[in-house]
Amino acid sequence: EEEAIRLALEFFEGDELRASVFLRRYALRDREGRPLEATPPELWRRLARHAAQVDRGMEEAYLWLLQDFRFVPGGRILFGLGNWRKSTLFNCYFVPIREDSVRGIARFLDEAMRTFAYGGGVGTNADVLRPKGAKVGNAGVESSGAVSFMELFSTLAGVMGASGGRRGALMLTFADTHPELLDFLRAKTDPERTRIRHANLSLRATDAFLEAALADEPWRLSFTTPREEIRAEIRAREAWTLLVEAAWASAEPGLLFWDRVRTWATAQYGGMEVQGVNVCGEVPMEPYGACNLGSLNLAAFVQAPFTPHASLDYAALEEATRLAVRFLDAVVDLGKNRHPVRAQKEASLRSRRIGLGLMGLADMLAMLGLPYGSGEALRLAEEVMRRIKEAAYGESAQLAQEKGPFPAFNAAKHLQSPFIQALPEALIQKVEKGLRNAALLSIAPTGSISILAGVTGGIEPIFALTYLRHAGGEVFLAEHPLLKRYRKATKGGTPDWPTAHTVDPFQRVRLQATLQRHVDQSISSTVNLPKETPKEVVEQLFLTAWKEGCKGITVFREGSREEVMEPLPPVG
Ligand code: CDP
Repeated sequence: EEEAIRLALEFFEGDELRASVFLRRYALRDREGRPLEATPPELWRRLARHAAQVDRGMEEAYLWLLQDFRFVPGGRILFGLGNWRKSTLFNCYFVPIREDSVRGIARFLDEAMRTFAYGGGVGTNADVLRPKGAKVGNAGVESSGAVSFMELFSTLAGVMGASGGRRGALMLTFADTHPELLDFLRAKTDPERTRIRHANLSLRATDAFLEAALADEPWRLSFTTPREEIRAEIRAREAWTLLVEAAWASAEPGLLFWDRVRTWATAQYGGMEVQGVNVCGEVPMEPYGACNLGSLNLAAFVQAPFTPHASLDYAALEEATRLAVRFLDAVVDLGKNRHPVRAQKEASLRSRRIGLGLMGLADMLAMLGLPYGSGEALRLAEEVMRRIKEAAYGESAQLAQEKGPFPAFNAAKHLQSPFIQALPEALIQKVEKGLRNAALLSIAPTGSISILAGVTGGIEPIFALTYLRHAGGEVFLAEHPLLKRYRKATKGGTPDWPTAHTVDPFQRVRLQATLQRHVDQSISSTVNLPKETPKEVVEQLFLTAWKEGCKGITVFREGSREEVMEPLPPVG
């Protein structure tokens, strides 16, 4: 262990946070817990070798892809590929509550528990359950309500996550027509913040609800059981105001723009119709849907960073995109017998859904000398995402020619998706002949893999140049790794990069909306806000996200919840 720590620290040039994430989370260990890998090159070789079992002759190409963290597979792949442990290779699952009954709840607990045990995250729709006071046929006489069961699900996630290893992360979403809507929106606003601590909450808001809220119209709630129909009427604005206040006060619930999620999904047929989302919301899925993840690290494609000739190597980025699609598609096969629940395996093999995304956008912009949040940065980001989209779709079409399309593929139905219709004509013609994957793109938070790669997560701005990071009970004084490179390149200069607390939040929302046009699934992103932000700004951000075309949005006002990161004033 000591030797591994020494080697890892040497590789990461003394960066304890990166070395610790690598060794604790991802280095392969033997049955006695001894590390078998001390540095990322050993990890890269393991991944490349295993992926090449599906694609003969690809090992060296995959190695290039993984080297220098050009592409980092999702945490479950890093941990699980070639590991003797029973674990999944998929970060994301949507596990439905199949029926509104004690048996339905018990079945969900069983399937969620097994998914957590394998290291998967679980999203589910809690509004499947009848509201408080509804009649039940058993000795309980009346139901304690959907919201009351959320506490049970949260506790399960908490207990399963308390054992070290991977936390069992859980997302509970709710429809805007459920009679317990107001209780759902208030569910986590208790001042002690002790309720439903181990689950994220999101409202699946329809356009009708949002329009009713804006127009201050009455809003119908209803729920039908075999015994009765429960109805209530509220003012839509009452629910809306509650949502904004809760998000302002405690960063939750998040908001999903459900009509957009559904109409823009690529495969709304053949049992793949979207019904829920994964934990952080970036993958809307069918019941039992599964998605593996991986992210291109944009910082790795910048040539001559911090100089006037800095540029992005598009050819290498597109090559990496094609290889990454091939890699993730191979993981669908490598992981097919490692799903916690049989129906997940079936869903995964039917759609071959994968989630290729990106990270290090902010780093790339800084290296190119473009201020995050500027118009120029926005245009470049869109160009990058458009190219990734086209290369990814081209490769999936190519894979369909080589290995066959995903089993549920139906050309006529697939082409009905507005996302597919917006592809260039030449690409649509290829897509018509077949796609290997029902959906391909998704921007995940990249919470730990971005630390491993030493870049800013997803599409977020640089959080702070130096900060305190709380992880696994320890506090790290962290410095953004790019700072070191900047000092080296500029012989000790101090950069003036925009950070999470200086970037205009509306620009961030616009960036997310712009990129969403080129992402077939969704984008997970959290808008950081200063403590003194008024509620009205949160409201306007939500409305802007809706109007500009985001599929969802979450905000985090400083101090509104326990923080994982605390910014420190810049040094120097
Ligand atoms: O960086 P890493 O691959 O570990 O994960 P991420 O990009 O931060 O999160 C991607 C997805 O992994 C989330 O949306 C969840 O579905 C799942 N996840 C989870 O189940 N438990 C966590 N503690 C973090 C993520």
